[in-house]
Amino acid sequence: MALRGKDSVGVVFWVVVVVVLCAATAFHGCSAALFKKKSSGSGIGGGSSVVFKLRGNVYPVGYYYAEVYIGNPPKPYYLDIDSGSDLTWLQCDAPCVSCPQVPHPLYKLTRNALVVCTETMCKSLHSPPAYRCDKPTDQCDYEVEYADNGSSLGILVRDIVPIRYSNGTVLGPRLAFGCGYDQHVSKGDVSPTDGVLGLGNGKSTIASQLRSLGLIQNVIGHCMSARGGGYLFFGNELVPSSGIVWSPLSPTTIDKHYSPGPAELFYGRQSTGVKSLPVIFDSGSSYTYFNRQAYQVFLSLVKKGLAGKPLNVAADKTLSICWKGAKPFRSVLDVKQYFTPVTLSFANKKSQLEIPPENYLIISSLGNVCLGILNGTEIGLENMNLIGDISLQNQLVIYDNEKQRIGWIRADCSRLPKSGTISL
Ligand SMILES: *[C@@H]1O[C@H](CO)[C@@H](O)[C@H](O)[C@H]1NC(C)=O
Ligand SMILES: *[C@@H]1O[C@H](CO)[C@@H](O)[C@H](O)[C@H]1NC(C)=O
Ligand SMILES: *[C@@H]1O[C@H](CO)[C@@H](O)[C@H](O)[C@H]1NC(C)=O
Repeated sequence: MALRGKDSVGVVFWVVVVVVLCAATAFHGCSAALFKKKSSGSGIGGGSSVVFKLRGNVYPVGYYYAEVYIGNPPKPYYLDIDSGSDLTWLQCDAPCVSCPQVPHPLYKLTRNALVVCTETMCKSLHSPPAYRCDKPTDQCDYEVEYADNGSSLGILVRDIVPIRYSNGTVLGPRLAFGCGYDQHVSKGDVSPTDGVLGLGNGKSTIASQLRSLGLIQNVIGHCMSARGGGYLFFGNELVPSSGIVWSPLSPTTIDKHYSPGPAELFYGRQSTGVKSLPVIFDSGSSYTYFNRQAYQVFLSLVKKGLAGKPLNVAADKTLSICWKGAKPFRSVLDVKQYFTPVTLSFANKKSQLEIPPENYLIISSLGNVCLGILNGTEIGLENMNLIGDISLQNQLVIYDNEKQRIGWIRADCSRLPKSGTISL
């Protein structure tokens, strides 16, 4: 299905728009105004950042999402944050073929300019292979498919995205994103979100576009609280000056994914003998996935560790493997003593990501404890290992696309960073 027709672009007074927006919301898009004014550093977007509050959790919601205002008048949309993909898109009535019911209005296509196929934005999204562009006025179609087999099909459009920067300035640049008119969510899933906020390292992300406009550095951070919620930022201002474990992004980065290179797997202090694991950080995945080999080894070590412990396998379909105790558990803290931390070690132990039990276990609605590290080979990830939300909780994770590195530090993600520093 093709969607044709050029929309006229209205003259838009974004300043007015933004004032209304910020008055109407206590936090979103305006939160950065609470930050102390800080003198801008030198260079592009020196000291500027943008902060979004996150909602959601790993279980039962299964998503962390940001509320982003788009359009004129601006409307709020809930966008699933996904460091595993680039394109930002929202459900759009163009007309929408299979949009799931969401609490928000569908994005209206009218009065928004189409991105044409000759634009860099279109080319970067499609390369390789090169996108067929017959006439320079042709629309730019897109199709994204995710690892869970969810997908979105639509066209690229450009509209105002009003944002307040940490220095207090409010700007509403016109940014490109996808207007999705044919969505499929993976089976049995009801998405609470209106679309996806792509945080990948390609040229088509919102952060990369803001960078091209000279507004921020292309640095993205997210902090997902284990209690739900958290925050997301673009720009380098909120990056703590010390304590971060940095790892260079792998030059062989699989497609456009954030990978600190191959990892060795440790269980407790013990090496498992599993090495050279290709790992990517993926905030778009609720759970962590190990490949067949790593999963097998991990699972047998977990089972061994549970021998003689008061846990029994439960008939609970929440995740692949769940255990029940003498009485229902209320928190992961009730059971964490029966499990051992897992560590992924990158670049010869120069940087390590510790995954304590609370970062790989959930308590199901039935009060059982379930393993949140799953078998990736089973869902077609082949050799790939994904570090998902469950293992990124209570970590500030920073994707520094300027310096081609990825960093992480334990943090209390339920507290917003103040005055440019993260309170731990
Ligand atoms: C604040 O930051 C924005 C984005 O980087 C920049 O465009 C603007 O000029 C800055 N304003 C001031 C007053 O420094
Ligand atoms: C993981 O999935 C693969 C593919 O379905 C399967 O062959 C393997 O046995 C699974 N591993 C475990 C430990 O269940
Ligand atoms: C996605 O589809 C592929 C191929 O049909 C299948 O092997 C895989 O299990 C599916 N993944 C999920 C998460 O359903």
